[in-house]
Amino acid sequence: MVNLAASYLGLNLINPIIVASSRLTSQLDGLKKSEDAGAGAVVLKSIFEEQIESDSNSMIKGMDDFAVHADAYDFFTNSSKDYYIDRYLELVEQAKKALSIPVIASINCLRPGSWLEYAHRFQEIGADALEMNMFILPSNSVETGREIEQKYIDLIKNLKNRLVIPLALKLGTYFSGMANFMKQLDDSGISGLVLFNRYYKTDIDIENLNFRAGKIISVKEESAVPLQWTALMSGELSCDICGNTGIYSGETIIKFLLAGASAIQICSSIMTEGYTVIGKMKETIENWMESKNYTSINDFSGILCQETHDDPEIWERSQYVKAVCGIS
Ligand SMILES: Cc1cc2nc3c(=O)[nH]c(=O)nc-3n(C[C@H](O)[C@H](O)[C@H](O)COP(=O)(O)O)c2cc1C
Repeated sequence: MVNLAASYLGLNLINPIIVASSRLTSQLDGLKKSEDAGAGAVVLKSIFEEQIESDSNSMIKGMDDFAVHADAYDFFTNSSKDYYIDRYLELVEQAKKALSIPVIASINCLRPGSWLEYAHRFQEIGADALEMNMFILPSNSVETGREIEQKYIDLIKNLKNRLVIPLALKLGTYFSGMANFMKQLDDSGISGLVLFNRYYKTDIDIENLNFRAGKIISVKEESAVPLQWTALMSGELSCDICGNTGIYSGETIIKFLLAGASAIQICSSIMTEGYTVIGKMKETIENWMESKNYTSINDFSGILCQETHDDPEIWERSQYVKAVCGIS
């Protein structure tokens, strides 16, 4: 009999499949469905820094739907910031009462502000951990990469000083010195990195010469980039890595575990195939483990990460050269 138990952010999970922050986790019904379908944990829909900071109606004035993250819009329809905080705390409280799996709160943030004063309330109401979805689009041509990285580090340190629960960062891909930055994040005391966030992107409508919403659902090919970075960094970091984006099957989850991920998050696969996909993923992992005579995830976790593999360059340029030029 195989055991799918996993450990992520110091939390004990019955299995490594976490339902990612999204509209699936914005209400108790979706959270219950996630647990009933067999998820190991849930990350609640993010509360946005702007919801805590300012009068939200004024914030969205003049914005068209396309300019707002797909699921952000529904949060910007009421004006009182207490309304948002209270509603979010209620969700955390309800989730903790109704579920037996870990509940991870989520904040979507950009800069320090008065919202930091509210962070401790998530843990007081019972959140098991906090996931920070921080995204600075490096589109300001006078700002250097170092300056942007420092903003992340400063905010993490600030938030960490206020929390006793574990803090995870859902990271984007727009960093030039990715490995070095991940190491800095690790040194800042973060408990986990979610690789990677999938940003909302605006598209162009060539018929109407206008803008339109980009695709909000990922495709399975997108899992290759987070898989590569999981394999490259899992052996080097002391914090946990959680794979995210484009995970549609148990086979892909196995790959992430072999690469050294502690857990993975899914969203689009549930939106496309329904909650039953979680059960199918678990079954695939169990069958594979049985076929390999593994009884626990620890038996194979990280065995194909760059650090432990016999050929550490397997995830790097040499493979590309071999594939493209046939040099062996
Ligand atoms: C409709 C929708 C709403 C989302 N809302 C949030 C959010 O509030 N906070 C967040 O951190 N990520 C949010 N995400 C991103 C997902 O958590 C996830 O990182 C992303 O979809 C990639 O995973 P996937 O390929 O399994 O979908 C959202 C995604 C979708 C599709």
